[in-house]
Amino acid sequence: MPVMPSTYENIKKAAEIIRSGGVAAFPTETVYGLGADAFNAQACVKIFEIKRRPLFDPLIVHINDFSMLGDVSKGMTPKVRELSEKFWPGPLTVILEKSEKIPGIVTSGLDSVAVRMPAHKIALRLIELCGAPVAAPSANPFGYLSPTEASHVEEQLKSDAPFILDGGKCAVGVESTIIKIEDGKNYLLRSGGIPVEEIREIIGDIIISGEEKIQAPGMLPGHYSPSARLKFFSSEKEILSAANPAFLLFKNNDKNFPSERTEILSEKGDLAEAASRLFSCLHRLDSLGADIIFAERVPETGLGAAIMDRLTRASLK
Ligand code: TXA
Ligand code: MG
Repeated sequence: MPVMPSTYENIKKAAEIIRSGGVAAFPTETVYGLGADAFNAQACVKIFEIKRRPLFDPLIVHINDFSMLGDVSKGMTPKVRELSEKFWPGPLTVILEKSEKIPGIVTSGLDSVAVRMPAHKIALRLIELCGAPVAAPSANPFGYLSPTEASHVEEQLKSDAPFILDGGKCAVGVESTIIKIEDGKNYLLRSGGIPVEEIREIIGDIIISGEEKIQAPGMLPGHYSPSARLKFFSSEKEILSAANPAFLLFKNNDKNFPSERTEILSEKGDLAEAASRLFSCLHRLDSLGADIIFAERVPETGLGAAIMDRLTRASLK
């Protein structure tokens, strides 16, 4: 299906599709989502089919208002409430105890549910018009680069692409940060659009997942991968001997790579700009048909942690 401009009429149409048990793609500030009615198990199955996503990988439920929370979860602890009041709407997902109304397919059978309120006018309006929470993963085939432009969704999902609302480029460009608080301990399940430093200021120490056995089931190595292999820069010799390379640089520097095969995430080395351009730069380099993408490491502070997480996973494919 074609990419549709986000007029009020088209947002209404997408909402009707979702309300009647279908799937529609929509923009958020992080990446594009593939949405279905979170209360409708059969509709949510379609998301897994379109994405070819394993059923063990649960979905994030999107709300447009705190009043929707009561139907989604059994409530928030004071700490989680403080976090969500500070960062919602925005790129933060919190793990809550699931309500009976959320079907098991959404949470892959877990008793917990991932919830977020996106900071995007079109997404919020869409959820409001649906009158129900919207379950939505990123709108890419499982394991592949996340879409940050409407055309990415169309190109990646091909004939399976649903109705797509065009919201231009996603401003944040990496997925939401996922936080779980359990037994008084704070866990970072995925680094993302809200830097962990900012979350720490509110809830204190955070255990980075991987250090403990608590994880987001979908955080697999090899995730967020382009078709080309991805490798961090190592020796000049390796780069010179590569047959069909492309280059992903953090900022403008003196490395002299062919410009048509090179993307610079942020000329001036700004991490927020780099995050917002990460997936679109990788999409562009992948479209060259390169065999290998050499990526430059970025500093792992602020949004740099999410960028390095995505690049590291892609390099493990
Ligand atoms: O920014 C985002 O979060 C985007 C936009 C569309 O909102 N969505 C997104 O969804 O990135 P997805 O499906 O690509 O990633 C969801 C992540 C997966 O790693 C999944 O394992 C984790 O959330 N997750 C979902 N429910 C969970 C739960 N109950 N406990 C732990 N992790 C959970
Ligand atoms: Mg995803």
